[in-house]
Amino acid sequence: MKQFIQKIVTENNSSPERLLAILRSVQSEYFHIPSEAIKLIAELLQIECNRIISVVEFYSFLHLTPRGKYDILFSDSITDQMLGKQALMDYFAKQLKLTIGSTREDGLVSLDNTSCTGMCDQGPAALVNGLALTRLTEQRIDQIVSLIEQQISITDWPSELFQVTDNIHKADLLLGQPISQGEALNATFNRGAVETLKEMTSSVLRGRGGAGFNTALKWQICADEAEQERYVICNADEGEPGTFKDRVLLNSYAHQLIEGMTVCSAIIGARKGFIYLRAEYLHLYQQLEATLAERRQAGLLGHNICQQGIDFDIEICMGAGAYICGEESALIESLEGKRGIPRNRPPYPVTEGYLNKPTVVDNVESFVAAAKIAVIGGEKFASIGTKESTGTKILSISGDCQTGLYEYPFGVSIKQILADCKAEDVLGVQVGGPSGSFISNQEFDRCIAFEDLATGGSFIVFNNSRNILDIVKNFTHFFAHESCGFCTPCRVGTSLLRNQLDKIIRGHGSSVDVVELEEISQLLKNYSHCGLGQTAANPILTTLQRYPELYQQQLKSISFEPGFDLDSSLGTARRMANRNDANAHLTQVEE
Ligand SMILES: Cc1cc2nc3c(=O)[nH]c(=O)nc-3n(C[C@H](O)[C@H](O)[C@H](O)COP(=O)(O)O)c2cc1C
Ligand code: SF4
Repeated sequence: MKQFIQKIVTENNSSPERLLAILRSVQSEYFHIPSEAIKLIAELLQIECNRIISVVEFYSFLHLTPRGKYDILFSDSITDQMLGKQALMDYFAKQLKLTIGSTREDGLVSLDNTSCTGMCDQGPAALVNGLALTRLTEQRIDQIVSLIEQQISITDWPSELFQVTDNIHKADLLLGQPISQGEALNATFNRGAVETLKEMTSSVLRGRGGAGFNTALKWQICADEAEQERYVICNADEGEPGTFKDRVLLNSYAHQLIEGMTVCSAIIGARKGFIYLRAEYLHLYQQLEATLAERRQAGLLGHNICQQGIDFDIEICMGAGAYICGEESALIESLEGKRGIPRNRPPYPVTEGYLNKPTVVDNVESFVAAAKIAVIGGEKFASIGTKESTGTKILSISGDCQTGLYEYPFGVSIKQILADCKAEDVLGVQVGGPSGSFISNQEFDRCIAFEDLATGGSFIVFNNSRNILDIVKNFTHFFAHESCGFCTPCRVGTSLLRNQLDKIIRGHGSSVDVVELEEISQLLKNYSHCGLGQTAANPILTTLQRYPELYQQQLKSISFEPGFDLDSSLGTARRMANRNDANAHLTQVEE
C-alpha cells in the first residue's frame, strides 16, 4: 500500500489541493479508504488525519468501510422511479442475494441508491464503479448479474450496457450551428480582448447555471481586480435532477466549451482553468482529456495560444458525489481539496475565489454560448430571445414524453414545448428541477425566460397517471439527502420536512402536521445559509399553494379538528415563520 500511496501522491504533486483526486484513486484501488492509507496520505501531504476523514465522510462516493468490488448505485431520480426503477432494483437485489444498502459478505458486490445520475432521458439508470449504465431492463440486469458473478472485469463488459446517447430533438443556435475549432479564438484575437468583452456586454448573456447573472459583468469585475493571478472554472457538476444538457455539451461540443473558457481567459488574464466534472460523468473523462490534448497539439491551448503570446491551460477535476458542489463557492472548496461547504458571500468568487484569487465560475452552456458570441457578435445574439433573456436555452426534457434535448429562443411557451416533445394528457411540468416550480396544466401559457420561468434546464413532464405527492416526496428526500449539514435550518429542516411529509403521505398526519410542514418550509427558506436550503421547500410550498386538497385528502382518515380551517392556519404558520428565532427553534427541535 505504501508504494501505491506514494505513487498517487507524487502524481498529484504532493499537493493538499489534490486530496480529492488522491482519495478517488485510493477508493478505486481498495474499494474504500483504509485507515492505513489515511495515515500515509496525512504524512505525505503534511495535513491532519482528521481533515482527511472529514473529507471522506462528506462525499457520497468515498467510504471508510469496504464496498463491493462491483459497486452498483441506482439513480433515484423521479424519472427513474417513473420508469420502474424500484422493481428493477428489488429484482437485482434478489438475483444477487443481498439487501439494498449493503455489501455482500463475500465482498464482491454492493447495491445502493444515489441521487440523479444525469441520465433521465435514458433511464432507468445506474452506475457501476462510477460508470453509467443506461436503459436498464430485467434482461440487462440478468446479464450484469452474470458478469459480476463471473468476476468479468468492467473493461470487458459489453459496450451497449454503457451506451449514452445525446438525444438531440431540437437544435438552434448552439446545438445546430457549432463553431469550428479556433474560430472564436481567431475572432477574439483579431478584435482584441477589450472589444470582445464589449461584444459580450452587448449580447446581454446571462448565466445558464440557473441564477442568470450577467456574464460580461462577471468577467469585467474579475478583469478589473488588481490581483494578477486569476482563474477560470467551468461548472460541470450538473447535479440538478432532470438536467443532462451539460452532459451532451461535454460529449459532443467540448471544443466549443473549451474555446469559450479560453476566450474568457484571454479577456480576464487567467493562465489556469479547471473543468469540475461531476463524478457521475466519469465516462466523459478520457475523451475530455483527449480533446484538451488535441487542442494543445493544434496550438489552441497551453503555451503561446494561436501564437499570440498567451498561455492558458485546463485541468479536469472530478467530484465525488455531492450535489452541493454545484454551488460555486462549495465547488471551489472542493477544488481546494476540502469538504464542499458553501462559503459566506460576499466576497464572491469573482474577487476571492480559487485560492482566494479572482475567479470566474461559469456553467458549461454559458461558455458554449460565449464562444458563439465571440464569433457572431453581441448584437446578433441579443436579437434572439426576449429583452431580459437573450439567446437560446437548452432544455433537458424528461418524464412522460419524447425525452432528450430541445433548444429554443427564450420566450417559448410551455404549451409549445409540450407539443414538440409529444406530451399528452399532461398533469403538470416541473421547471428548474426540484428547487424550481411545479407548473399546473392551467398555466401552460407561461414561458421560459428570466422574466417568467427561469431554469437551469431541467423540464420534467408528468401525465395524469402520476401522483403529485410521490413527486414531492422524491424531491424532498433528495434535499434531505444532499443537505451538506453545515447550517442548522437546512440540516434539521430538510430532515423534518422529509419525516413530516412521509407521515402525511402514509395517512398518519393530522391537520397540525400540515401547518407545521408549511412552518418548517418558511424557516428553511428564510434562514438557510445557501441556495440549497433556501429552495428545498419549494416542492412543498408550490404544491401546497396549487393543490391544497391533495394534502387535505391524505388527512381525511384522521379528520380535521372541529372548526379547523387549513388556509387560515397556513397563514398563521407563515407569520410564525417570519419570527426571528428560526435557528433557536430548530436547534431546540434537533436537541
Ligand atoms: C445547490 C446549488 C447547486 C448548483 N448546481 C449547479 C450546477 O450543477 N451547475 C451550474 O452551472 N450551476 C450550479 N449552481 C449555480 C452556481 O452556484 C453558479 O451560480 C453558476 O455556476 C454560475 O455560472 P453561470 O453564471 O454561468 O450560470 C448551483 C447553485 C446551488 C445553490
Ligand atoms: S443551506 Fe444546506 S446545503 Fe447550504 S450550507 Fe446550509 S446545510 Fe449546507
